[in-house]
Amino acid sequence: MIRAVPHVAAMAPYALADLGRAGTVSLAQNESAFPPSPAALAVGRAVLDQMPLYPDPEWPDLRAAVAEVHGLDPAKVLCGAGSMELITCLIRAFAGPGDRVLGTDYSYAFAASAAAQVQAEYVKAQERDLTVSVDDILDAVTPETRIVFVCNPGNPTGTLIPNCELLRLRAGLPADVLLAVDQAYAEFADAENNPGEIFALAERGDTVVLRTLSKAFGLAGARAGWGFFPPDIAGEVRKLLNPNNISIPSQAMAATAMRDQAHMRNVVAKTAAIRDRFADGCRALGLDVPRCHTNFVLIRFASAEQARAADAALRVEKLLMRGMGGYGLQDCLRATICTRDVMDRALAVLKGVLG
Ligand SMILES: Cc1ncc(COP(=O)(O)O)c(C=O)c1O
Repeated sequence: MIRAVPHVAAMAPYALADLGRAGTVSLAQNESAFPPSPAALAVGRAVLDQMPLYPDPEWPDLRAAVAEVHGLDPAKVLCGAGSMELITCLIRAFAGPGDRVLGTDYSYAFAASAAAQVQAEYVKAQERDLTVSVDDILDAVTPETRIVFVCNPGNPTGTLIPNCELLRLRAGLPADVLLAVDQAYAEFADAENNPGEIFALAERGDTVVLRTLSKAFGLAGARAGWGFFPPDIAGEVRKLLNPNNISIPSQAMAATAMRDQAHMRNVVAKTAAIRDRFADGCRALGLDVPRCHTNFVLIRFASAEQARAADAALRVEKLLMRGMGGYGLQDCLRATICTRDVMDRALAVLKGVLG
């Protein structure tokens, strides 16, 4: 019998969302409700004739676009096949057997899977009110901690901590602990949390910032993420990335979408308006919805049974939200924000369930 190495054989496959059947509307994967920049789609189509070639392993135009928009040194930008690839390679490079990766109660579950791949232990610091707690993270650091992984804004909570809290976290961490700040949803919060303050942290040499084109830019299918890395850390992560990781059309689309900030801001504003209306509608039904800074909301029901009943009723209407049992939040569903029509339909179903 052919056997996988024991730690891989012992791993559960990463749990993706239930994608439902044809005709189902997915509110489960935090994809954008709106299409990407038309200019990005046009440029993607225009480079299809380059498909016999391998993609550029240095992502020059995407790096340049990121650097222009955020005022960063392009040499410190690395691009991944989604930020998932960057998360995996970062953890593979800086943690190993016996080490600890410290996340928080509700930080992105994929980091735990990436830690399991390298036999590192993934531990969680407590969150308070579904929000990252810097004091609890600092209390949970041990000599084995190699990486602290924080999502801001959080997924699945949608909550945000101010940059000054992340600065306090960095200041309180030992110098040999790498801080990874996952900002997959940052474009929904940049207006109130100046991104420059967090990129400046990466200049210290012990912090990385991860972002993606999958959410606000509507390019989840392109698999393009990026991060701002201190050079020494970038050098190690670079060794582990697939050398031709982002396809030619994806690099072209991502660079153009990044430069089309007006389109992205418009998508963010439209999404946020639908989100806030839906969240208010849920609250009016007596449901608890934390203030969210993302393209989804976390809905807390009175009980796990009520959450299950809501999920079942939504499925009858072909609306698929994401159950949160994997995070220990059995009384919650996470709803990706879709168009206003769809969210109104979802609200009507919830109203029916709650009587
Ligand atoms: C917090 C967070 N980080 C990272 C990712 C990965 O995004 P991608 O690999 O599409 O860039 C996601 C996707 O849902 C996410 O929610």
